[in-house]
Amino acid sequence: MALKKVLLLYSGGLDTSCLLKWIPERYGDGDGVEVATLTLDLGQGGVEEAKEKALKLGAVEAFVVDARQEFAERFLTKAIQANGLYQGGYPLSTALARPLMAEYAVEYARRCGADAIAHGCTGKGNDQVRFEVSIGALAPELTVLAPVREWNLNREEELRYAQERGIPVGPRSKYSIDENLWGRSIECGELEDPWREPPKDAFAYAVPPEEAPDAPDYVEIAFERGVPVALDGREMGLVELIEALNARAGRHGVGIVDMMEDRVVGLKTREVYECPAAVTLITAHRELERLCGTIHENELKPLIDQKWAELVYKGLWHEPLREALDAFIARVNQKVTGTVRLKLYKGQARVVGRTSPHALYAPELATYEAGSAFEQQNAVGFVQLWGLPTRLAWRRRHAHTAQEAQEAQPQTQTQTE
Ligand code: ARG
Repeated sequence: MALKKVLLLYSGGLDTSCLLKWIPERYGDGDGVEVATLTLDLGQGGVEEAKEKALKLGAVEAFVVDARQEFAERFLTKAIQANGLYQGGYPLSTALARPLMAEYAVEYARRCGADAIAHGCTGKGNDQVRFEVSIGALAPELTVLAPVREWNLNREEELRYAQERGIPVGPRSKYSIDENLWGRSIECGELEDPWREPPKDAFAYAVPPEEAPDAPDYVEIAFERGVPVALDGREMGLVELIEALNARAGRHGVGIVDMMEDRVVGLKTREVYECPAAVTLITAHRELERLCGTIHENELKPLIDQKWAELVYKGLWHEPLREALDAFIARVNQKVTGTVRLKLYKGQARVVGRTSPHALYAPELATYEAGSAFEQQNAVGFVQLWGLPTRLAWRRRHAHTAQEAQEAQPQTQTQTE
């Protein structure tokens, strides 16, 4: 494959740094291939250092895009409205970032005249699927390279390769980390043993709940149409609000997720996350939605949410069904406006108060105090009809049982006689 220029999605870590050298060696075809890098700031920090490093290692251009705002506005608002949790636990932090990275990769590849995009994913994870499905849909003319999937170097070989080519090898991390505003995914090392408790050093902002302060912290989150807009009465943008909550809920050990997970490629893995803001916001949002929705909406919404999370996890952000589900989710969220009060304490964010102008809670009907407006006598006829199918079925079953017993009886008698 003769390539002229490759745009590399570059994190600044060891793997993608090696790729900066390896791509020209592997795909150069004698004529040499240029490598440009793209690093997105999604709240993980260190992007300017990554840019410097890329240029030092021979990148012809090193692009950096601050995409935090866009990530929050286009992706995280939807994740909140959809109560987005894969398999009931993972707030999709890595999964949500990939389609945005793919979009920018396509834009910058076209802009700088690259004929291929390279990513640093292995062949065992979901991220290769997410990048390649999105890039394949958005830019079928571009080649996608996954050199890490091809090169098959183990850790020692990779370190030797890096040393030989003057790639700085930082202090060796025990874990493989992917981080952005919405959370931190922590893998590898001793976490691969599902029986072992994740050690404290795996986490960056969530403290172990037993070490959290003995005094709870109360936080009030205001939502408009399912999107958080203020913290403790102070209006703020979503990026700022998430950063504030990561620190505040993290301090109380909220948002540690430790679960077995089913990957798209068929593997079952143990995954550890810390997502204090995500867990707090989804907990709050879900409760506010319950306050404002009818029983029918509240019964269907979790099913749609689950499907949404599944699509996002499985790399199908650019699949039309995701947009169709978004339309439903946005419609339900039109009335999810109000405030939720949570108690952050020893690893938990528990809703302790909720209020909304759209609340369907009617205290004059629900109260057990004297003078309730609820007409209890109406319940008599209601229960009669509500229970009718069950009574009919029960009577029919009973009739059969009685008949069968009767038919069985003479035989039984002859046998015993
Ligand atoms: N299991 C998570 C996911 O598939 C986390 C992946 C973390 N990625 C990484 N490069 N360390 O979304």
